[in-house]
Amino acid sequence: MSTADRRPIGVFDSGIGGLTVVRALMDRLPFEDIVYFGDSARVPYGVKSVATIEDFTRQIAEFLLQREVKALIIACNTMAAVAVEVVKQVAGAVPVLDVIDAGARAAARVTRSGAIGVIATPTTVNSNAYARAIHHLHPDVRVYSQACPLFVPLVEEGWLDHPVTRLTAEEYLKSVLVEDVDTLVLGCTHYPLIKPLLQQVCGDEMTIVDSAVTTAEATARRLSELGLLNPQREMPNYHYYVTDIPLRFQSIGERFLGRSIRQLEMVRLGS
Ligand code: DGL
Repeated sequence: MSTADRRPIGVFDSGIGGLTVVRALMDRLPFEDIVYFGDSARVPYGVKSVATIEDFTRQIAEFLLQREVKALIIACNTMAAVAVEVVKQVAGAVPVLDVIDAGARAAARVTRSGAIGVIATPTTVNSNAYARAIHHLHPDVRVYSQACPLFVPLVEEGWLDHPVTRLTAEEYLKSVLVEDVDTLVLGCTHYPLIKPLLQQVCGDEMTIVDSAVTTAEATARRLSELGLLNPQREMPNYHYYVTDIPLRFQSIGERFLGRSIRQLEMVRLGS
């Protein structure tokens, strides 16, 4: 057996939101080691320029490649929207997966009305990345995108089922719900945390695509195709790197993850 398949999977995000993807990976691939990187000192990325996001993303990808990961998972929609080519460039032969590709594929597969709603950060919406990815698969599907910048701070605050979050969701989703949309893509790592509330606002008929779960499934498929799944059946090792440890990092992170965070290390990137 090659030692290549025992290497960890590298997952990264602008902060702790990507832990929703890590959680889905832990469920789907329970024997894989995971190295997570969250750029908590520089979050949020969703309102930054493309040049800055590309620069930060390159630094993170290089950091993880130095830790000999066997795959890179871009668990941040904003980075996936504007910097996926940068990651592929530095990754070389290491496979790169991202939340947008996985979410777009799932949405294009499940829509029956041919109209899909996408909610995301302003940078992701402005990049048009979801619409491009969906149209690449299905040119006839209509895509309605809505930026929801207030959701990230509301989720960070832990207001997952708060009247303010509900009112905000009703306001944001108005423009999407007037269309014949039957599928809603959660185009931001933080949004799966308010999925039950969003389902209530949209109604039971709406299919909500959670790109955390679809990314974990896509990762499992790709690793299997490449013969990179870890055959060991031992307790996996999870290591978390962040660029800052804010006051409530541990409690918020553990809520995202649904389990305790043990190996947490702070590192500096750039100069
Ligand atoms: N991780 C970002 C995303 O998925 C949300 C937080 C941010 O703006 O950095 O788009």
